[in-house]
Amino acid sequence: MNTTRNGAPGTTDQKPRWEGPPEIRPRGYLPAKDDPSIVRDAAGQNLRDPERRTLDDAFRTGGDRQPAETAITGSSGRKLHTGATMPVMGLGTWQLTEDTAGVIQSALELGYRLIDTSGDYGTQPGIGQGIRRSGVARSDFYLVTKVEETDDAYDAARRNLEELELDRADLILLHRPPETGAGEDLWLGLMRAKEEGLATDIGVSNYSTGLIDALVEATGETPVVNQIEWSPFGYSEDMLRYAADNGIVIQGYSPLTRMKRLDDPVLSALAERYGKTPAQILIRWNLQCGTVPLPKASKPEHLKENIDVFDVHIPDEDMSRLNRLNERFSALGTLPYE
Ligand SMILES: NC(=O)c1ccc[n+]([C@@H]2O[C@H](COP(=O)([O-])OP(=O)(O)OC[C@H]3O[C@@H](n4cnc5c(N)ncnc54)[C@H](OP(=O)(O)O)[C@@H]3O)[C@@H](O)[C@H]2O)c1
Repeated sequence: MNTTRNGAPGTTDQKPRWEGPPEIRPRGYLPAKDDPSIVRDAAGQNLRDPERRTLDDAFRTGGDRQPAETAITGSSGRKLHTGATMPVMGLGTWQLTEDTAGVIQSALELGYRLIDTSGDYGTQPGIGQGIRRSGVARSDFYLVTKVEETDDAYDAARRNLEELELDRADLILLHRPPETGAGEDLWLGLMRAKEEGLATDIGVSNYSTGLIDALVEATGETPVVNQIEWSPFGYSEDMLRYAADNGIVIQGYSPLTRMKRLDDPVLSALAERYGKTPAQILIRWNLQCGTVPLPKASKPEHLKENIDVFDVHIPDEDMSRLNRLNERFSALGTLPYE
């Protein structure tokens, strides 16, 4: 059996199928084959059936929450299982330590509506400043921050908000699982932060399916997001299937492969075909997977280019070509969620 480093089940494939009434399906069971609540595509195929669902199935509908006939626009959102809506893409800020406030202000003026940061990026004070300078209303942007596995999660959440000079984050994530265990205590700390209104929603980052199951089993609280590395060169169909089954949105980090694969010949040919750059095709691939890319950019031309992705649609055939590039590549060394 596939296991994580904690010995927890590693994929949903080991889960039994629930044969009782769908409305009382317990956690840990897959839906019955004839469950009327399952999501079907135009051909009647169950997109959540692990035997059927591949990344090719997912992009045909742009992800479960984005029917193919609905074009994704800059103001589209991804619905979270708690009811909130998250913008379809965001700006990463790791290493964005030069003129952070200026870059954030420009990004908000260009139309970025989600900003991703972390207590350990050193960008929070500048992000707060940039937001205030931009004059964008609190209800019009979505702020994601993270707490470290070595922190007291609740205290770290408070500290992050102080640095940002905000009363609340839209989403606070556990940056990565601790060395041992799933981090149940950390998760309880974030649940407290949520209860007290410091975060609208809470989620995880760099978690395997087994570790997410362990958190949910211990606390009953399902993360709304798993933020993981995600590009055509490195992704996981098992994770995508698990996320769809459990109503978890995948946020894709290092979606531009930290520039390491921008000159790939297949990617370059597709970029030429659609009159876009390789970076824009990578972002578009993420959007059409139903995942939420977080490209980092500090140069003005990159900021502009990366958000100019809503006037193109990559057809199924070319999405399949991109999907076939998967070699579990990681710009950071490993895909820690596997
Ligand atoms: N949760 C986690 O553990 C985790 C880990 C890694 C990253 N993240 C998040 O995900 C974000 C994105 O990931 P990342 O920063 O690792 O890498 P990335 O977004 O894949 O790549 C960023 C690099 O690409 C360059 N770039 C941006 N737009 C470009 C374009 N159109 N053409 C060519 N180059 C372009 C940037 O240059 P310039 O800056 O010079 O414009 C920067 O050097 C991070 O900033 C962070 O918010 C989270």
